[in-house]
Amino acid sequence: MKELLGLLAVWSIVLSGLALLAGVALIKRGKRVWHHRAMLTGTFLALLFLVFYLAKWALHGTTAYGGPEAWRGAYYFLLITHTLLAALNGPLALYVIWRAFRGEFVLHKRWAKVLVPIWLYVAASGWVIYLVLKRYGVETGTIAF
Ligand code: HEM
Repeated sequence: MKELLGLLAVWSIVLSGLALLAGVALIKRGKRVWHHRAMLTGTFLALLFLVFYLAKWALHGTTAYGGPEAWRGAYYFLLITHTLLAALNGPLALYVIWRAFRGEFVLHKRWAKVLVPIWLYVAASGWVIYLVLKRYGVETGTIAF
């Protein structure tokens, strides 16, 4: 169950990143309706990620880093920036979508250009963290970094 939830979480965040890239490519070609659909799909996948991640956390606790000491600093840098930016991503995405639905496309574009790199960083770093913990993870069963 734990492995399945981890796999579902990491795939949903990676697919959400891909939907985001597709959405950016679509709007660059002027395909507004498909941009809209791709971005809402990406948002839905990011919400799924949150559900799978929280379920895994509630049922199985966290996994600590148990890899080489030389990499510990880099791993924690990645983990902390990933977590902080993931927390920022949610409200920023809601704001960007809200502006689009109100037809305020100047504000939509301005903030979307901040949001997209954050979202992609969260998706890519999530995948790296998953792979590191798959190789070097130590079960804690408690809330610990
Ligand atoms: C998380 C969701 C979304 C993100 C990250 C996002 C991202 C972006 C980005 C980066 C651009 C600027 C592209 C460029 O010119 O370089 C853009 C433009 C645009 N977006 Fe979105 N978008 C999202 C959701 C939506 C939704 C839901 C709609 C429709 C209701 C929408 C409608 C548009 C339109 C019409 C433009 C073109 C605006 C213009 O050129 O004046 N977007 N979006």
